[in-house]
Amino acid sequence: MEFSTQTTASLHQLKTAALAIGIFADGALSPAAETIDRASNGAVSAALKTEFKGKAGSHLALHNLPGVSAVRVILVGLGNQESYTAATHAKAEQAFAKYCVGANLSEGTSTLAAIDCPDSSLRARARSAACAAGVSVYRYSATLSKDKEKDGAPKLKKFTVWIPRTQATQVQNGLREGRAIANGMNLTRELGDLPPNVCTPTYLGATAKKLAKEFKSLKAEVLNAKQIEALKMGSFLSVARGSYEPPAFIVLRHTPATGKPASKGDKAPIVLVGKGITFDAGGISLKPAANMDEMKYDMCGAASVLGTLRAVAELELGREVIGLIPACENLPSGRANKPGDVVTSMSGQTIEILNTDAEGRLVLCDALTYAERFKPAAVIDIATLTGACVVALGHVNTGLFSKSDELADSLLKAGREANDTAWRMPLEDAYQEQLHSNFADMANIGGMPGGSVTAACFLSRFTKNYPWAHLDIAGTAWRSGKDKGASGRPVPLLVHYLLAQAG
Ligand code: BES
Ligand code: MN
Ligand code: ZN
Repeated sequence: MEFSTQTTASLHQLKTAALAIGIFADGALSPAAETIDRASNGAVSAALKTEFKGKAGSHLALHNLPGVSAVRVILVGLGNQESYTAATHAKAEQAFAKYCVGANLSEGTSTLAAIDCPDSSLRARARSAACAAGVSVYRYSATLSKDKEKDGAPKLKKFTVWIPRTQATQVQNGLREGRAIANGMNLTRELGDLPPNVCTPTYLGATAKKLAKEFKSLKAEVLNAKQIEALKMGSFLSVARGSYEPPAFIVLRHTPATGKPASKGDKAPIVLVGKGITFDAGGISLKPAANMDEMKYDMCGAASVLGTLRAVAELELGREVIGLIPACENLPSGRANKPGDVVTSMSGQTIEILNTDAEGRLVLCDALTYAERFKPAAVIDIATLTGACVVALGHVNTGLFSKSDELADSLLKAGREANDTAWRMPLEDAYQEQLHSNFADMANIGGMPGGSVTAACFLSRFTKNYPWAHLDIAGTAWRSGKDKGASGRPVPLLVHYLLAQAG
């Protein structure tokens, strides 16, 4: 999609298929809305008297207003003016983008980013406008027959942000960032939505290689079973063993171009580790049949790492970022690991597998040990790790676990700025005793109480040598029901965090 800025003062003469103007719930008009109201002899005010009340998230399309060149003017509700925030703005942009796609338009102009709000900059609002437009055109089509694919394809190709004064650099930077985030999210969504017989560990590896071809800052390396074995990743391999589908350990590395201004402070790389279980049947501890198809989404952590690295590369970020993905299936078979098995992780610590369905931590722990070699400034793992996290936080917040207040605060802040929020969960040592095993250094489950916390505690035992945070995205990575589909979260959070770290 193409993004541009427009600063004409005579907004009513702007030729566009759809012009979005903001209306507050108390009937107050944004400056752009006033211009259109005046030019159209009060057509906007008239609509406010009757059918439109400015409720946040609502909209009304007015066609062919007298004195206005836009084919249609879309009134977009902003809610109460006193409580107007960046989050409300983002929702309003999403509503407008959805309207444009629904009406089959190829182009639209929004004036909403021009409206001041206390908790954001113009650049940030341009960013969220571009992101909203960019993700609105995502349609899953990879496995639809040709006709169906064409039917659903959105036509929106061009999105314009109108601002009253020339502040071109701020807006252009924001648009560029928003576009990169949207492209990253759409890649993450596509990988999540692809069926598990297509999106295999090998497919994830090929995707990393394809990204490395497309962006010259990226280098991809895909290790096979033999190489994984040579690394002594006994825990990861115990999960992979149950499937005919070969595992892959993916290393995707973004190196800033030399000659780019050095980033602030610490130049050690930031490592992202993504859980890449391309299908989780539970293994011998088999899951119930209902909704088991959704366990194709168990690679959304991996997909968010690939999406984030795509965004980082597109933005030519001035900071080294390394993505690590342990990818395999978790299936029952005669070769699968089983309850009671004791395996040796790459760290040398032994693990008693009491439930083969707690496989995410078993593949992540070896990747976390592998991360040590990069002497990272921070390691963040992203995983659809526990159903317990969905019970705790629902589908609103990603679960954030970290012993580092500094790292946790940076991630929470990035989440708020990105409209992709996380909530900090506890990680005290008192929970560790639930992982006691009589036959190994630890068990892979800690029982019912605090299931998402004991999972994080398990991972913490492999992350002693660097600042680390864990994001449990089990509740936020995809939506169920009629609108079933991957959300692209937490790509916005991660890209905002990395932008802040790059300075
Ligand atoms: N991939 C699942 C977690 C999951 C479940 C995510 C439902 C989203 C929705 C994970 O591998 C798993 O099965 N976890 C178990 C852990 C338990 C056996 C300790 C769980 O949450 O039930
Ligand atoms: Mn599982
Ligand atoms: Zn899983």
